[in-house]
Amino acid sequence: MISKRIDELIDIIEKANYEYYTLDKPTITDQEYDRYMQELIRLEEENPELQRPDSPTVRVGGKVIDGFEKVTHEKPMLSLGNVFNESEIISFDEKIKKVVSKPKYVCELKIDGLSVSLLYKNGKLVRAATRGDGVTGEDITHNAKTIKSIPLKINKDIDIEVRGEIYMSKDSFDKLNAFGENFANPRNAAAGSVRQLDSKVAASRKLDCFIYHLPDPEDYNIYTHEDALRFMKELGFNVNPNNKKVNNIEELLEYIDYWTENRPKLPYEIDGVVIKVNDLNDQQRLGFTAKSPKWATAYKFPAEEVLTKVTDIIFTVGRTGQVTPSANLEPVRVMGSVISRATLHNEDYVVSKDIRKGDIVSIKKAGDVIPEVVKVITERRDGTEIPFEMTKVCPICHHSLKRKDEEAAYYCTNEHCDAKKIEKLIHFTSRHAMYIEGFGDRIIEDFYNLGYLKNYDDFYKLYEHKKELAELEGFGEKSINNLLESIENSKKNSLERLLFGLSIRHVGAKTADILGKNFKTMDNIINASFDDLASIKDIGDTIAKSVCDFFKKEENLDLIKKLRALNVNMMYLKEQIGEKTYFTDKNFVLTGTLERFSRDNAKEKIELLGGNCSTSVSKNTDIVIAGKEAGSKLDKANKLGIEVWDEEKFINELSKY
Ligand code: IVH
Repeated sequence: MISKRIDELIDIIEKANYEYYTLDKPTITDQEYDRYMQELIRLEEENPELQRPDSPTVRVGGKVIDGFEKVTHEKPMLSLGNVFNESEIISFDEKIKKVVSKPKYVCELKIDGLSVSLLYKNGKLVRAATRGDGVTGEDITHNAKTIKSIPLKINKDIDIEVRGEIYMSKDSFDKLNAFGENFANPRNAAAGSVRQLDSKVAASRKLDCFIYHLPDPEDYNIYTHEDALRFMKELGFNVNPNNKKVNNIEELLEYIDYWTENRPKLPYEIDGVVIKVNDLNDQQRLGFTAKSPKWATAYKFPAEEVLTKVTDIIFTVGRTGQVTPSANLEPVRVMGSVISRATLHNEDYVVSKDIRKGDIVSIKKAGDVIPEVVKVITERRDGTEIPFEMTKVCPICHHSLKRKDEEAAYYCTNEHCDAKKIEKLIHFTSRHAMYIEGFGDRIIEDFYNLGYLKNYDDFYKLYEHKKELAELEGFGEKSINNLLESIENSKKNSLERLLFGLSIRHVGAKTADILGKNFKTMDNIINASFDDLASIKDIGDTIAKSVCDFFKKEENLDLIKKLRALNVNMMYLKEQIGEKTYFTDKNFVLTGTLERFSRDNAKEKIELLGGNCSTSVSKNTDIVIAGKEAGSKLDKANKLGIEVWDEEKFINELSKY
């Protein structure tokens, strides 16, 4: 009888989820819901053998995976072409009309999230996957099951795949960031959440999902997109209620106007309107390009500009000591994120736009780019605005600043400025430098202030503070271990990473690589004269002087000594094999799933031997390495007559060096 009660409870809870998350019409109270859920959890705990795989208790998360399995989509998950204005919409319609005489469209909101494929077998959710590169995605079933608007079981016991968008509502996004996360917009937050290994984290992120695509409509005798949407709704999926069939271009433009105007009222972010030909037979006649269907397009809203007030102009110090003015703003929502700061670049920029504290300004944000002040609304001035004046001293250490003749920038003259040091420590860990994962800027700043991190060698002694670190808020045993492991691994990095990480003026990642390649060891660089350095191609006098100056300083030599004593590698490891290899200067493309290497790993091996990797096959490709389930790239390679290796052959070639 217990199993009957479990079945009953599952039905009640899933019905309540559907009414609440999909229909937006709850019929039971939160307290009742909690009571049913508690009862179900208790029964399942007491009778683990009766736990059903589609039980809503999986929605609270708990499953942790080691890594993401690759999933090959049965039909590729395509992207959409874009149109940006009325005339482009009209030409899209004209093109359609060349094939279809009186096209009808379905207009849909373009949800700003990430696309997902959901697979049901016998009515039960068995797999959820991301789009990935369209052909191969990642299995995110454990996380998708925590999303309450994704049914674990649908209303018919059929096999079906549907596709849609996982997103985060504006409200959940604001709450998440208020709790200390720092996502740029709800899309990034949603993408970051479904890529969690621990489904408890995804469950806590309050994601949502709209379904908008049925890849195999003919299997269900469906002949229009409108019917496909209705069918999916009947199955229990969350289909956006604002989708609308339009009969002509006038109605289509009206839909766009309406949502351009009313988009701020929606509880989630949209970045445009998707236009789809309704008749599936017409869709078939129109066909596809390599990347997207010809029967659909996405109208993208223009980059949003909003007005806000400059509450203050402040100054920050970067790793080179450059002091940059920024505007503090009254917080406003622009393109999905709340903005309260905009860069003002340098003195000349602020003066040329005459931006003053107290001004009303228009700001703009395009994609992930840092927001900028577009212009000052001078008509809104009331005389209380305070004209800009560049600071004369460093905002952190109060030493004087110096403007470089040839640059618009001012620099702090204090070698020992705290802000500079913190920025340098952050840079040391960054992706193209020592690539130490697990630090955020804030943590480095905190560790600096706590005295654990003063200079680069302290990273490698951080394990001495393991106990104290574990007591800090937000730092679990596991994250500390991961961090320490990442620090330890960075000791093996090739020399150019360390050189770049040291923040030597004018030595960017590329220059560091040139230095590494030519001098091979740190000692050779330390001992190189100005002439030795300047004689290298692409190393000019400025760089040569800067490198010489850096290694003349006792404190820097001392630092290198300490790093060496801590076993940090000081040799250039790329192309260690010396002479040319078979891989040198050849262009490789990796496709499909390799069993013994991750993509990054294989790429690194190829690059270490002097080869290049790119993502698309062209006539310039020399070799395609094809793993399991390789798709269109392999086809193209075969068509172009390009040499193809399987994993076996790749391993064989690598083993020669
Ligand atoms: S249709 C073949 N409909 O926009 C059908 N996509 O820029 C392809 N998106 O990859 C997708 N809302 O992630 C479709 N109502 C909607 C959408 C939508 C958001 C996303 C989707 C797609 C991207 C293309």
